Amino acid sequence: MPGNAVRAAIAAAFVMTSLLAVGERAAAQTLNDLTQTCAACHGEAGVPTEKTTPVIWGQPRAYLLNQLNDFKIGRRKNEIMSGVAESLSKQDMEALATYYSQQQWPDLQQPAPSPEDRAAADAVVNSLNCRGCHQANYQGDTVRPRLAGQQDEYLLKTMTDFHTGERRNYIGMVVLMKSLDEAQLKPVANYLASLRYNGRPK
Ligand code: HEC
Ligand code: HEC
Repeated sequence: MPGNAVRAAIAAAFVMTSLLAVGERAAAQTLNDLTQTCAACHGEAGVPTEKTTPVIWGQPRAYLLNQLNDFKIGRRKNEIMSGVAESLSKQDMEALATYYSQQQWPDLQQPAPSPEDRAAADAVVNSLNCRGCHQANYQGDTVRPRLAGQQDEYLLKTMTDFHTGERRNYIGMVVLMKSLDEAQLKPVANYLASLRYNGRPK
């Protein structure tokens, strides 16, 4: 290659690398802006600001991505989250799911249920084999969410939503929750909320 052509090729390669670097910085900036929005409700250190808002820090990536997508396409309905997800691109959702799945689940220090509630919860979780899908420590796995240490009131709300059919983005959970009386859900929520698990989802 003559000297000028080499210089032109080097210049072109340099421009390309700079553009890529700018692109990466823009992506990092966008993720940062987005997580600031999420933190207003899902919390600065993973502790949600409201009792009915779920912990999303440390939830499996595939589960988070499914939920964001479901809110966006209306398969899961929630006034707040549908509005949030509407403006997210596929790349945004992937970056957010990766980011939150890598954070440490917060310890909300929710109290153990009374012995009566514990017995009522055991009767449900053992007969319906919740651990068969949500894993031995309720730590979740891919598309199956972690339940251990989730917000008590959120667990009750979302199980009630499956029970009434308000939430129906996974038919398996709708069928299971419909098979229970509404009064059976509260002890289960109390029990799952009280569980501590420090490991990562598989
Ligand atoms: C104004 C408050 C608010 C903001 C801002 C917000 N969320 Fe949410 N989010 C909620 C509430 C409330 C729910 C529970 C919805 C329900 O009950 O079905 C939720 C549910 C979720 C869920 C489902 C979790 C689960 O366990 O099923 C995910 C994932 C999620 N939000 C991610 C995000 C991300 C990512 C952002 C930022 C881009 C965000 N949220 C911003 C309030 C908010
Ligand atoms: C056949 C597998 C399976 C079994 C058994 C099962 N689950 Fe689930 N569960 C799932 C899947 C998959 C989801 C995620 C649904 C979605 O994508 O919205 C889920 C979601 C949930 C959620 C919502 C969590 C959140 O963050 O919003 C709760 C709560 C829950 N399950 C509780 C239970 C309880 C309690 C039992 C036992 C009574 C149980 N599950 C049994 C597969 C199962």
